[in-house]
Amino acid sequence: MTKGPVLAIIDAEADRYADALADLPCEIRVYADAVVPPEADLRAVAYALAAPDRLATYLPFLPSLRWAQSTWAGVNPLLSALRARPEVAVSALKGPFGALMVRYMTFWLEGHEQGLLVALSAQRRGRWAHGAVRRQSAAPFRGTRAVVLGTGAIGAALGGALQARGYMAVGLNRGGTPAPGFQETWPIARRLEALAGASVVISVLPATPDTAGLLDEAALATLAPGALLMNVGRGSVLQRDAVLGALADGTLGAAVLDVFEEEPLPADHPFWTAPRCFVTPHISAPTEWRAVLPVFRENFERVRAGQPPSGLVDPERGY
Ligand SMILES: NC(=O)c1ccc[n+]([C@@H]2O[C@H](COP(=O)([O-])OP(=O)(O)OC[C@H]3O[C@@H](n4cnc5c(N)ncnc54)[C@H](OP(=O)(O)O)[C@@H]3O)[C@@H](O)[C@H]2O)c1
Repeated sequence: MTKGPVLAIIDAEADRYADALADLPCEIRVYADAVVPPEADLRAVAYALAAPDRLATYLPFLPSLRWAQSTWAGVNPLLSALRARPEVAVSALKGPFGALMVRYMTFWLEGHEQGLLVALSAQRRGRWAHGAVRRQSAAPFRGTRAVVLGTGAIGAALGGALQARGYMAVGLNRGGTPAPGFQETWPIARRLEALAGASVVISVLPATPDTAGLLDEAALATLAPGALLMNVGRGSVLQRDAVLGALADGTLGAAVLDVFEEEPLPADHPFWTAPRCFVTPHISAPTEWRAVLPVFRENFERVRAGQPPSGLVDPERGY
């Protein structure tokens, strides 16, 4: 005897999710293992709340799956499996990340504006950089261009926060579609014009074949001297040698990197020791399991009511 449709929770935190969602009018089954348990009978599962890497493994055993809510923002591990299952809709996680990313950005932006990143870099080399820090903290940032690559859920929050700090917030997306949070939006094909003279550039782009290597030597060369680069989307957007070169010649005042093509960042990677390069371990907007719940509940209600859920992934587009 089942209690409505079957919902599979496939995530390391599956037990916690199941307890918090026990009131839902459905039968909940919990799968915390990364591999499909041999005894699992997943044939009746219609809905899932799942980590994308695990869902990719479970998908061949879920013939009745109609919709899944991802517990992550990025869904790359799932894309190829999803292309073979066009009847399955997947929602990427949207909502909890904007405020967290603004908190991360604000820390580094303040450090940049006050010259604290200069001081921290100088400390690594045992230097007393009094003059350089004073010059940096006296530099005018108000009204300068701050370009955000990606104007989606997170990009819009960053754009709004940059405007509130007095920057001219410029967004880049595929077609230049106007987006909330930005005074100007440009198509990615015109990125060199959009980036020209920017004092801050932040990428919050997903990893797709089209976004790979977009921040290359030509793009970085257009920035204002001493600009701040931040990458919080995916590592493949940056061209490694272009970033290292721009740090070495002062085009970049600092690079703050949270995401990398290979994670963990290998111990011998030059980003660890490059001048004025700050590495954080993919923590700029960590997903806290409780924050997933309201997003899932709202989308689940929509799906049950026959309405489209938010955050739908297009496997061909890649995000
Ligand atoms: N570091 C972390 O802790 C962390 C946490 C959460 C998310 N993330 C990353 O942040 C990414 C963005 O998240 P989100 O929720 O803001 O995603 P989103 O709402 O789907 O927005 C994605 C944005 O990227 C743009 N875009 C995609 N391909 C592009 C291209 N080739 N050229 C120009 N713009 C392109 C989209 O443009 P259109 O508007 O034209 O579609 C859209 O504006 C995620 O994919 C994930 O990789 C990182």
